[in-house]
Amino acid sequence: MTDYQTLLLERVEAVALVRLNRPEALNALNSVLLGELSAVLDVLEADDGVRCVVLTGSDRAFAAGADIKEMSGKSYAEMFKEDFFTAPARRIERFRKPIIAAVAGYALGGGCELAMMCDFILAADTAKFGQPEINLGVAPGIGGTQRLTRFVGKSKAMDMILTARMMDAAEAERAGLVSRVFPAGALIEETLKVAAKIAGQSPLAVMMNKELVNAAYDTTLTQGVALERRLFHSLFAFDDQKEGMDAFVEKRKPDFKGS
Ligand code: CAA
Repeated sequence: MTDYQTLLLERVEAVALVRLNRPEALNALNSVLLGELSAVLDVLEADDGVRCVVLTGSDRAFAAGADIKEMSGKSYAEMFKEDFFTAPARRIERFRKPIIAAVAGYALGGGCELAMMCDFILAADTAKFGQPEINLGVAPGIGGTQRLTRFVGKSKAMDMILTARMMDAAEAERAGLVSRVFPAGALIEETLKVAAKIAGQSPLAVMMNKELVNAAYDTTLTQGVALERRLFHSLFAFDDQKEGMDAFVEKRKPDFKGS
């Protein structure tokens, strides 16, 4: 497998575990890391053996934000010309397989935004989420103002973004930012179980379900429900639908082939 400078990649059967690995900078997202993350997603998307991805960091930090040291000296012209963050953000947004963020420790700024770009967030009880860019005299730049507001509502999003306060795991779960919280020592094991459950489903149905949930953010209810109906009908074109329903009727476990 390719070696990465800032990522560690492991395979656990059909699950790929990607660890952000810049411990000296609490996994701050610099251009090398973002480039490698885009590259690894290309590899994992093309690999039919991978049915679910888990993105995680260390016990101390999922990621403490965009790399402030790399950004601090940049001019407006450089940020604009390089279109800073757009390419890696698009890569994650158009990743078609399921991707779970497993967050322990800090998920701040771009780190919180990266977690929110995943399909859902599982957190350790040590997790701390925040958008502290206001402390640096800037604003979130990878979707934080938009996604956090959709997750937790205007009041909490304004509070967090304007004061830079962090939300702990319990509050994040109550607010709907996080789907489940586990004891820190069990986060990866529990996340891998969740990922294995998804990896055992029909990969085609998983992709369509992901597309449909994401469509809820970009369409009206009527359009979203119409799209759901069309994709629901189209799922009957796959062998996996026959297998899933036959297995239910025959009282056995389905064996989804992704066809
Ligand atoms: N960028 C670059 N380096 C970072 C970093 C970041 N976002 N966050 C932490 N580091 C580095 C620190 O500079 C330090 O390096 P040195 O040892 O070389 O000094 C190392 O990681 C360890 O950090 P601390 O010593 O600060 O650790 P701590 O436990 O005392 O504090 C922390 C932890 C509260 C997370 C603190 O590091 C912090 O506040 N980090 C910055 C958080 C932040 O502002 N994030 C937003 C960045 S901007 C952004 O993300 C824009 C966007 O939306 C795209």
